[in-house]
Amino acid sequence: MEKTKLVAEADKQVLGLQLPTDPRWVDLTQMSLEDILTDHAYCEQKATTSCISLVQAYPECEELVRQVSPVVSEEWAHFRAVLQELEKRGLKLGRQRKDEYVNELLKYERKSSNRTERLIEKLLICALIEARSCERFRMLSLNLEEEALRKFYHGFMVSEAGHYKMFLGLAKLYAESEEYVEKRWREYLTYEAELMNRLEIRGDRMH
Ligand SMILES: [Fe+2]
Ligand SMILES: [Fe+2]
Repeated sequence: MEKTKLVAEADKQVLGLQLPTDPRWVDLTQMSLEDILTDHAYCEQKATTSCISLVQAYPECEELVRQVSPVVSEEWAHFRAVLQELEKRGLKLGRQRKDEYVNELLKYERKSSNRTERLIEKLLICALIEARSCERFRMLSLNLEEEALRKFYHGFMVSEAGHYKMFLGLAKLYAESEEYVEKRWREYLTYEAELMNRLEIRGDRMH
């Protein structure tokens, strides 16, 4: 999908998410730039790892391998861009924190005995993380005080919107029916909204 269309879509409905991020979060991130950039860097690193894991676990899914492989390089390039941003500002990459958001999402993953169903779960979780990241990057790209940082985050927003589309599309491709994916996706969205509601708003975390 072309970039402008993706941006319009992200703007219109924040990719189906049921609970928008509290606008106070942006102010908090500005107070802890080193921490938020560190957290962001690890998010990109984890995105890289999960793409590699998908390819390793499902080599027979040719379309998946074809679409996900280039995203490995994209996510790694994102990681490097965040590192560069830290360096430019004289800030340091800190240690990785416990990722409460992702850990809680993983608790909702259905441990099916069916291999394809397990794949659909993984793809939907990836889509969800991309959607929420995209929504947060969008907030930063619109509301941060510093123009250079607003631009920086705009680029991420567009890219993650594309990844969200890809993961959801792959889930529909490999599922037995589109209805199955749509139903499960709605369940995930509801669960994610409840999760966002109970997580503390912290300026040192991307989620
Ligand atoms: Fe990324
Ligand atoms: Fe991504």
